[in-house]
Amino acid sequence: MKTVIYPGTFDPITNGHIDILRKASKLFDEIILSVASATGKNPIFSLEERAHICRQAVRDLPKVKVQVFHGLAVDFAKERDACAMIRGLRALSDFEYELSLALMNKKLLDKIDTIFFVPDNKYLYLSSSMVRQIVSLGGDIKDLLPPCVVAALKSKLCV
Ligand code: COA
Repeated sequence: MKTVIYPGTFDPITNGHIDILRKASKLFDEIILSVASATGKNPIFSLEERAHICRQAVRDLPKVKVQVFHGLAVDFAKERDACAMIRGLRALSDFEYELSLALMNKKLLDKIDTIFFVPDNKYLYLSSSMVRQIVSLGGDIKDLLPPCVVAALKSKLCV
């Protein structure tokens, strides 16, 4: 049984993240979408809200399980007996950050490697902060977000 974790802030999850999960579902037996409490960011959704939205958004992906974690991603990976972490790599601008994250995680726990997936073209420019801003300003980007995310964002941002 090959399990991987997909750690992130997911504030909120977008179709770009779901695209990565679909690709990973073809290769692994179980993907734990791991919603981090320690992200160094100031998310608009609480940890439980982020996890709840993710659970709704991945309902049709049977290999994906959503869990929250506190502390280090590598400790969570070890606890769940994961063989690797997965992350999305959208553009060259992601590379430096993702490389340092992957190397630091490897230093913390040598047996954990990071596997990168490249999202489909249509998601290369997508980011959670962009969708938060666009929805808050009344823009329409329904095709980039699961319907449950659009509803959650509208209700959180009172649009
Ligand atoms: N499609 C769309 N957007 C994507 C994406 C994809 N495939 N891949 C990344 N993104 C975007 C996100 O929307 C997000 O956008 P934003 O910055 O505008 O909000 C950004 O890229 C990155 O977000 P996310 O994928 O959620 O990851 P993150 O960089 O916020 O996550 C953690 C960082 C959670 C993995 C890291 O903080 C962590 O591991 N924390 C646990 C503590 C720990 O172990 N620290 C030591 C790390 S060495």
